[in-house]
Amino acid sequence: MPKVKSYISERESELPGATIVKLLKIAEENPEIISLGPGEPDFEPHPSIIEKAKEMLDRGYTHYSPSQGRSELLEALCRKLEKKNGINVSPEQIIVTCGSQEAIFLGLMATIDPGEHVLIPDPGFLAYRPCVELLNGSPVPVKLEFENGFRFTAEGVRRSIVNPRRTIVLIINTPSNPTGTVFDRKTLEEIADVVVEHDILVFSDEAYEDFVYRGRHVSFASLNGMEERTVTFHTFSKAYGMPGFRIGYASGPEEIIKAMVKIHPYTTLCSPTVSQVAALAALELGDDEVRKIVERYDRRRKYLYREISSIDGFECHEPEGAFYLFPKIDFGMKSLEFCEFLLKRGVACVPGTEFGHHGEGFVRFSYATRMELIEKAVERIEKAVAELSR
Ligand SMILES: Cc1ncc(COP(=O)(O)O)c(C=O)c1O
Repeated sequence: MPKVKSYISERESELPGATIVKLLKIAEENPEIISLGPGEPDFEPHPSIIEKAKEMLDRGYTHYSPSQGRSELLEALCRKLEKKNGINVSPEQIIVTCGSQEAIFLGLMATIDPGEHVLIPDPGFLAYRPCVELLNGSPVPVKLEFENGFRFTAEGVRRSIVNPRRTIVLIINTPSNPTGTVFDRKTLEEIADVVVEHDILVFSDEAYEDFVYRGRHVSFASLNGMEERTVTFHTFSKAYGMPGFRIGYASGPEEIIKAMVKIHPYTTLCSPTVSQVAALAALELGDDEVRKIVERYDRRRKYLYREISSIDGFECHEPEGAFYLFPKIDFGMKSLEFCEFLLKRGVACVPGTEFGHHGEGFVRFSYATRMELIEKAVERIEKAVAELSR
């Protein structure tokens, strides 16, 4: 019998193919290519985290956990949120998930009905748009302008609210992937005014909260009156080097967290039990361990920013946070074309278009890579670009 129907849903067919996956695969298969592509840290978790995980596996921590998360972890997270983020929540207001990625998806599932609008930063983290689309929601880009340091402005957010009644969620991400921008308190307060005016819920993605080199990280939920209209997303993937443990968490209004917990059994049920005890060990580490890592990343950041800005054809803001440089390119090529050109010359990076329509004309270089590799990559970029001016 010839096959007559497609087994693939329209929902799947309409998802973007994530060029980043293809580019990074080529880089992985060719060890001579230096990858400035990765969105994950290059260090291993602290030995005490690994030891704890091994010990707990030996002790039989191989079973399911409660869907909301293990109670000792929820309590430790309450303390962390209060001390570090100025967010006061009870354990009922937290859910532990398989990375913050799952938490964002659960958060959207709990709040968005088909056709409702979610405002997303553009350029912004590449998962926001597909997550909204998978739920038949409507992602509405808030354009972030290079000239304005890729900051949200009250005016920009207002302009994007094309249908106030249907606009439910605004996603903000500071420190930002891919732009490296850190929103200051004033910017956040301006956003707060708009969300109150339009009665919008904020999803504050703070995956890079520890990677701040200039200024201070301010959690949106810590602003006056914002606790009740903010769901905050955090992760152990970045600062603790634990992306493969798949553990993150969301905190926010009890009604929304409860709805997320209700859905959780139908997605992954729970974050791995062993990861939850490893996360407790990570919380016990103290700030010094994280600070040492951030200092190392800061040296790479300064180097990469200085070198790339000095090459004709690149123009960039000095990143204030996360671990990415997001230069504007002027080589007579589109972002993707330029990345393919660099890939052939031994350097992998990510086209700005992966992060939204307004990412055209930019590329993302990650400095979550050893310094000597970054230095070598810069040499190759310089040489490649010199070919263009010949
Ligand atoms: C801005 C941002 N949010 C969320 C995530 C998801 O990370 P995880 O699911 O590992 O916590 C990432 C990963 O790169 C990210 O860059």
